[in-house]
Amino acid sequence: MNKTEQYESLLPQVKAVMDSSVDVIANMANMAAMLHETFGFWWTGFYRVIGNELVLGPFQGPLACTRIAYGRGVCGTAWKERRTVVVPDVEEFPGHIACSSASRSEIVVPVFQNGEITAVLDIDSDKTGTFDATDATHLEQLVRMLYDF
Ligand code: SME
Repeated sequence: MNKTEQYESLLPQVKAVMDSSVDVIANMANMAAMLHETFGFWWTGFYRVIGNELVLGPFQGPLACTRIAYGRGVCGTAWKERRTVVVPDVEEFPGHIACSSASRSEIVVPVFQNGEITAVLDIDSDKTGTFDATDATHLEQLVRMLYDF
């Protein structure tokens, strides 16, 4: 299966697992697990907006930094600029926060609820150039399922 086919088969499976009767953290946890298992990423998880910073949420992979300031790193940039940020080579992104030295490329997708960003989905790869517009489109669609049942 190519990447598009993998996302197309994953989307309905995630939709089926999302549970409107539980808190969003539980749904984030399952979404991170399903993405991580399907694609074998290096690190897959959420940072939640709490006050004026991002705080580590449900994730799969090695340990990570617990807090990220507004506008800092790839995650803080996606939050500030309210858009998905694709980084083909983390060494070429000024201000990238290296939680793990194995991370080579990254994508960060903001999670919106009623027009407000409540979290970001952050995915890291141990290879350069893993993420592109196909990932951006499908991951944006996926994170909408966290609030849209
Ligand atoms: N690299 C991210 C920090 C989070 S870790 O990758 C899990 C950033 O620059 O925002």
